[in-house]
Amino acid sequence: MAGQPGVFVTGTGTEVGKTVVAAVIARTLAAEGKRVAVFKPAVTGLEEEGETDHALLRRASRSSQSDEEIAPYRYQPPASPHLAATLAGEEIDPERLRQAARDAAAAADAIVCEGVGGFLVPLSPAYLVRDLAADLGYPLVVVASPGLGTINHSLLTLESARAAGLEVAAVVVNPWPEQPSEIERDNRETIAELGEVRVETLPHLDLGEPDSWPPLRI
Ligand SMILES: Nc1ncnc2c1ncn2[C@@H]1O[C@H](COP(=O)(O)OP(=O)(O)OP(=O)(O)O)[C@@H](O)[C@H]1O
Ligand SMILES: [Mg+2]
Repeated sequence: MAGQPGVFVTGTGTEVGKTVVAAVIARTLAAEGKRVAVFKPAVTGLEEEGETDHALLRRASRSSQSDEEIAPYRYQPPASPHLAATLAGEEIDPERLRQAARDAAAAADAIVCEGVGGFLVPLSPAYLVRDLAADLGYPLVVVASPGLGTINHSLLTLESARAAGLEVAAVVVNPWPEQPSEIERDNRETIAELGEVRVETLPHLDLGEPDSWPPLRI
């Protein structure tokens, strides 16, 4: 999908920091004076406490999009989106997602999309996060953890992305410790070397203070 510049933030799994990284990228663009749209195909786990992904993305980007415009499908259970939709008696419609992303991008200078869980999570039984990422066509950012296991998870995700013809703009290792261990430093270097990819890091942030966040330009 051509048009406005954009980025699609995926991760090596759930809870690795996709929303935080997407929020920092969006904030960086907004601080440069750009009108930024944010987009997340589906949000699950609304029944859990804390700020929702769409609320943090909106706050960080200074967007005035509605919940519906940011995340067309929103569900209470903390389940994979295909299951959360089934439990709600519906099925996620790929065309509705593509259209919503197109509309969001058209109203802005740039769009920052966040996936759901990891890269091969099903949005519907026959439509994975990877399929949406490929349909949208934005460069990918892969969020990965710093610790043991991350080399394998990162390289698998890079291979899967490239198999779908996607450009990987960067891996972001998050949260990057103030004093990284030898394992963490080696993980970062090994992902860059074996993955042939740019690797950035993001430290632990005060999420309540976006003005204190370091810029992240993709
Ligand atoms: N750099 C960071 N600084 C501070 N907190 C962080 C950072 N990265 C992640 N977190 C915290 O870790 C948790 C998981 O992060 P986040 O919600 O961004 O993950 P996610 O990959 O988007 O998860 P999901 O798969 O549910 O969308 C959150 O509570 C978030 O506040
Ligand atoms: Mg998230």
